[in-house]
Amino acid sequence: MIGGLEGVVAAETVLSAVDGEGGRLVIRGHTLGELAGRTSFEQVAHLLLEGFFDDLPDPEALARRLGAARAQVFAHTTAIDETLKTLGPIEAMRALTARLADGDDLDTALRLLAAPAVFTPAVLRAARSLAPIAPDPALGHTADILRMLDGRIPSPARAAALDAYLVTVSDHGLNASTFAARVVASTQAGLTSAVLAGISALKGPLHGGAPGPVIEMLDAIGTPENAAPWLQAALDRGERLMGFGHRVYRVRDPRADALKGAYRTLNVAEPARDPGRLALAEAVEAAALEALRQAKPDRRLETNVEFYTALLLEAVGLPHEAFTCVFAMGRTTGWLAHAREQVLSGRLIRPQSAYVGPAPEAEAA
Ligand code: COA
Repeated sequence: MIGGLEGVVAAETVLSAVDGEGGRLVIRGHTLGELAGRTSFEQVAHLLLEGFFDDLPDPEALARRLGAARAQVFAHTTAIDETLKTLGPIEAMRALTARLADGDDLDTALRLLAAPAVFTPAVLRAARSLAPIAPDPALGHTADILRMLDGRIPSPARAAALDAYLVTVSDHGLNASTFAARVVASTQAGLTSAVLAGISALKGPLHGGAPGPVIEMLDAIGTPENAAPWLQAALDRGERLMGFGHRVYRVRDPRADALKGAYRTLNVAEPARDPGRLALAEAVEAAALEALRQAKPDRRLETNVEFYTALLLEAVGLPHEAFTCVFAMGRTTGWLAHAREQVLSGRLIRPQSAYVGPAPEAEAA
C-alpha cells in the first residue's frame, strides 16, 4: 500500500531496531529490558546522542548541562499569556518551544531536551492560574519535572518510574514523528525545526495522543464486568480501541510489558498509588484483545505502548491531559539523535509521488 508507506525502508540508522514479529526493541545495542528501569533519562540521552556531537561530555557532565539548560529555557515561561492558556498542553508546550533559536549544536539540543520538561509543568500550572516553578538544576531530570508540578521533591520511586517511562519511549525506529523530524532535519532547517515537526506529528491520536483517551476509557468502563459490553459497543460504533494495534508489531508491544513492570515496581514501593487500577486495566485488556480477535480475525491486534503508559503516568501523578507532552519529553531524545544522523548523512529526503489526476485537456483531446 502506498498511502502509509508500510514496509518501505526510508533510512539507515544506528539508533534503534523494531522487530515487529519477534516483539523486540533494541536501542543502540541494548534490549529494552536492559535499559528500562535500570538507566536514568540522562543516561539514555547520552547513549542516543553519542557520536552525533563532537563536544558531547561524559554522562555526569551531560546531566549537569541538562540541568543548566532547564534553568535557561525557564526564562521563556514569561511568554505564557491569555492566548496561550486557551491552548491544550501539547499546543502550548509546542508554542513555547517554537520560541527557541534554531541551531545544530549541542547547546541547542540540550535546550530542546529541557523544553518539554520545563514548559509542560508551567502550562499545566498556568491553566490553574498558578505561577510556574523554576527548575532546580541540581536535581535529576525526572525529579525536577515532578517538582516543577507542585513544588514538592518527589519520592525516589516516583522519579524512577518516570525515568523508566522516558527511557522506554526514547526511540522507536522510523515512527511517524521521527520520520517527520528527519525530513525537516534533512533540509538543514535546524534541530528546533526538526523537534517542532516531531511534536506536531506526535500529538495525533493515532500516534502519541492515545494514552489520555485510555484513561477516559477505563473511567467510562468503571468495573471489570462492564468491560466486554462497553468495548463491544465501541467497536459496533466503528471506533478504534485506544492502546491496541500497531503498524509494525504483530505481537504484544515489548514496551507494554516494560511499563507494566515499572508500574508494579512503583506499587511495591508505594501501594497506596493503585486505586484498583491494575485489576480493572487487566480485565479491560483481556476483554479488548478478545473483542478485537472476534472483530478482526485476519488482523493481529495486540496491546501497544499507550495502554500501560496511561496507567503508569497516572500512578506517577501526572494529569492525563499532559500525557502526550510527557511522551515528547522522552521522544525528543530520539528525534534529536535521528535529526543529527540525517544531517550528517548529508542527504535531502525527497521522495516522489505518482500522479493520478487528470491529464491536461490538450493532451487528452
Ligand atoms: N481498534 C479497533 N480496530 C482497529 C484498531 C483498534 N485499536 N487498530 C486497528 N484496527 C482495525 C482497523 O480499523 C482496520 O480495520 P479495517 O481493515 O476494517 O479498516 C484493521 O484493524 C487494520 O488496521 P490498520 O488501519 O491497517 O492499522 P494501522 O497500521 O494503520 O494502524 C494504529 C495502527 C496504531 C494507528 C491503529 O492500530 C490504531 O488506531 N490504534 C488505536 C490508537 C492507538 O492506540 N495509538 C497508539 C499507537 S502506539
